[in-house]
Amino acid sequence: MNFYEIDSFDKYQDAYRTSVEQPSAFWDNIAQNFHWHTLWNKTLEWDFDGPNIKWFQGGTLNITENAIDRHLAEHGEDVAVIWEPNNPHEKAVKLTYRELSAEVNRFANVLKARGIGKGDRVAIYMPMIPELTIGVLACARIGAVHSVVFAGFSAHALADRINDSQCKAVLTSDGMFRGNKSLAVKETVDEALASCTSVETVVVVQRDEREVTMVDGRDVWYHEACVGESDVCPAEVMDAEDLLVILYTSGSTGKPKGVVHTCGGYMVYAGYSFKNVFQYERGDVYWCTADVGWITGHSYIIYGPLLNGATTVMFEGVPTFPDAGRFWQVVDKHRVNQFYTAPTAIRALMAMGDEWVNDADLHSLKVIGSVGEPINAEAWYWYHEKVGRGRCPIVDTWWQTETGGHMISGLGDLSPQRATFAGLPLPGVQPVLLDSDGQEIAGDGVEGYLCIKHPWPSMLRTTYGDHERCKNTYFSHYNGYYFTGDGARREDGMYRIIGRVDDVINVSGHRFGTAEIENAINSSSVVTESAVVGYPHDIKGQGIYAYVILEGEGHDHDQVRREIVATLVEEIGPIAKPDVIQIVPGLPKTRSGKIMRRILRKVAEGDTSNLGDTSTLLDPSVVDVIKADAEKLQV
Ligand code: PRX
Repeated sequence: MNFYEIDSFDKYQDAYRTSVEQPSAFWDNIAQNFHWHTLWNKTLEWDFDGPNIKWFQGGTLNITENAIDRHLAEHGEDVAVIWEPNNPHEKAVKLTYRELSAEVNRFANVLKARGIGKGDRVAIYMPMIPELTIGVLACARIGAVHSVVFAGFSAHALADRINDSQCKAVLTSDGMFRGNKSLAVKETVDEALASCTSVETVVVVQRDEREVTMVDGRDVWYHEACVGESDVCPAEVMDAEDLLVILYTSGSTGKPKGVVHTCGGYMVYAGYSFKNVFQYERGDVYWCTADVGWITGHSYIIYGPLLNGATTVMFEGVPTFPDAGRFWQVVDKHRVNQFYTAPTAIRALMAMGDEWVNDADLHSLKVIGSVGEPINAEAWYWYHEKVGRGRCPIVDTWWQTETGGHMISGLGDLSPQRATFAGLPLPGVQPVLLDSDGQEIAGDGVEGYLCIKHPWPSMLRTTYGDHERCKNTYFSHYNGYYFTGDGARREDGMYRIIGRVDDVINVSGHRFGTAEIENAINSSSVVTESAVVGYPHDIKGQGIYAYVILEGEGHDHDQVRREIVATLVEEIGPIAKPDVIQIVPGLPKTRSGKIMRRILRKVAEGDTSNLGDTSTLLDPSVVDVIKADAEKLQV
């Protein structure tokens, strides 16, 4: 039996059982559906203590041969990428697999000509335009490691990421369109590069044709560099465990870390999970609204779809431009069959009224998906009824940057579905719920810390340049388990994700460490100390609530708030703007100096009736002041 295509619930159950009883045989079976230069001689070697995880050792491959070349003979004229621009009056671009191949190979040759090769890191900081996909694949073609940085991050955040992995090149654009705005991009790169010494080449795609400064010898226009380059570039043969991706993500401590994915395992899992979760059939048009700056875009705009010869839609714009019907107009325009978005977008559109979605046809839709944060019941039912017209299954996909691919999710309409539940684990995924002593909690109707007890091919291998950090963050909380940072509930074997149990907050599906935001706030000259917590937000899922102690007295609070926001925008980017900034005289600290965040969370939630035991606080009276002031802020 070939388990690559799961087309019934019985087959899912068979696949799942086999994946647990004989993991190596199971993944051998799946991996044989890809093109390898040399087959692997050892399917899996692992220990979670190191951690040391190796999949498909001895195997060699290039992921772009699997995502592009192998489709050319029979499906070269199929559309690989449909690009839908920000402005609906601009023409959509369609690239066939043959055209994509030519573009990727040509740009791979550009990179090679500029001295970029296997193992070099390339930062990609650009809007959602076709050259972003081409750039990612061109890196993979020549064995360079791509590190895509979301184009909404600030120069400071970009510089940190470039420096951490010592990128040799940057791919960017002059500017970008977003709704009715045109924003600078290259200018931000220039600002970042003032503090980066490793970058030798900057390739700039022309998008909004604004004036930019080009540094002689370092900067080159994409369209000029491509002239005269061949559209044939032999794929670099990579070991299964060679690096493919670095993607920075926030945790509860320190600076964002570079999550590392490797070529073989990532390819196998991205391809396999895409095919089955979305029940993709050849000829379907699939659209994921995420940005390639996040893992969702890597695995489920680029790699997963292309590995399956799919047609993937890439959208440059925002859900509300030119109006709140844009998503549904694009679905109808390109006859999208699988649509994948985030709860925050669903909630925002839901709040704008049903007429937009009612006006659309949407009959092409077969499967609709959700990702990035827990989906509340109201949004789930609206999505199901209004967008899915009551007939499309919702795949609520739980996973993480670190997992590389979907971990817990329905498979199209094959699996049982329950509102607000991600559902059953994918084959090869062994979730457990642990109690605070690290004991597995058995049975149903239980809640605990969500951990995974066996490796899967696309799990992170390390955090770039700091293996100890990888161990401490994911493998030290509970011996022998990968710790996800999430809490979950299990009913009838199905999982419902409750949310983060660490100091990570999820704002509109974007992950922030509270410490990361606090560090940025503290760098403002007027601030002595701060504490940041998340609180429930109707649209964003969680909002950012910052408690701030000011340096000195007599400040104009509105002015201070503006200064803090400006500092955050500079240090991280506009996505980190707090929703509430409360100036406080002190923070609730224990005698040992630890901030009692539990209290701050309750106040932020507006639930101050029972703050629990505050007797261990150094100064319990500070809580009364915080409480009284919070009420005045009218969250
Ligand atoms: O808390 C979970 C939440 O997003 C976190 C992972 O964030 P990130 O690495 O940025 O990846 C987002 C896209 C995969 C998780 O720890 N999360 C993600 N998907 C879901 C979710 N929470 C509930 N339901 C989901 N479907």
